[in-house]
Amino acid sequence: TEKGEKKDFLHISDFDKSTILKILDRAIEIEAQLKSGDRSFTPFKGKTMAMIFAKPSMRTRVSFETGFFLLGGHAIYLGPDDIQMGKREETRDVARVLSRYNDIIMARVFAHQDILNLAKFSTVPVINGLTDYNHPCQIMADALTIIEHIGRLEGTKVVYVGDGNNIVHSWLLLASVVPFHFVCACPKGFEPDKEAVDKAQKAGISKIEITNDPKEAVKDADVVYSDVWASMGQKEEASYRRQVFQGFQIDEALMKIAGPKAYFMHCLPAERGVEVTDSVIEAPNSIVFPQAENRMHAQNAIMLHVLGL
Ligand code: CP
Ligand code: NVA
Repeated sequence: TEKGEKKDFLHISDFDKSTILKILDRAIEIEAQLKSGDRSFTPFKGKTMAMIFAKPSMRTRVSFETGFFLLGGHAIYLGPDDIQMGKREETRDVARVLSRYNDIIMARVFAHQDILNLAKFSTVPVINGLTDYNHPCQIMADALTIIEHIGRLEGTKVVYVGDGNNIVHSWLLLASVVPFHFVCACPKGFEPDKEAVDKAQKAGISKIEITNDPKEAVKDADVVYSDVWASMGQKEEASYRRQVFQGFQIDEALMKIAGPKAYFMHCLPAERGVEVTDSVIEAPNSIVFPQAENRMHAQNAIMLHVLGL
């Protein structure tokens, strides 16, 4: 691969609208084929993927590894103790060595700069499997889930309630490319990064609102979305955050304000009884499991795209 020509997927806004919609269409096709039991589509045959994890994971690890395998490839899991990127070995060396063995690198790291460095020095496509700043594969899966349940993403109202974190930043970057209505209701002091908000607002594509009032925010929502209040790397703040985030739990009363058409979504893992009640996550309008499944279908289509297949 010529340096500079490779396609990375580090942020949703790395792709334009038509590319995103094409990837989502492709995901739906591959999903249907896999669900029919047809295993004849093996575009990744003879290819390998290195998966770097500096943090724990269930969905990201299993969906990438299984998805890559189902389409004919072989994925290698590298856990937090294996390569210790930036500690045992510099990121720029990890990038260049892994590029010589693998056709693609997927990484979940702490600092966003780490994935930027990895992409800069690798000669194969790099996919972001979550950083402290972004989680683009999750939001592609979420967009797919909304299209499958509502029929479209454009024009829908998505209301995120909770911490202005990596998930929110990726929603904002999606909103800077595809038109919909995105609202983030978070406690004062836990708003998303100003740069991401500005980028989404300046793009002028979507209606963007950041508010501290969850009850007002959820009115007429198509989707009410939640995530943990303390992300990976913030777990020591969990009890403090539980105090500050009082009033931001998604419970039946809040879903009632949202109205009958609102679906509940959560990227998972969820802390039931904290950011969401058990009854909301178990309700018939909760689509958290199709959402989790869609990680695999969305990522299969993303991998095909970055590999030019
Ligand atoms: N939603 C998500 O990324 O889950 P994991 O942390 O289990 O990969
Ligand atoms: N915001 C969460 C997402 C987990 C998938 C975290 O970063 O831990």
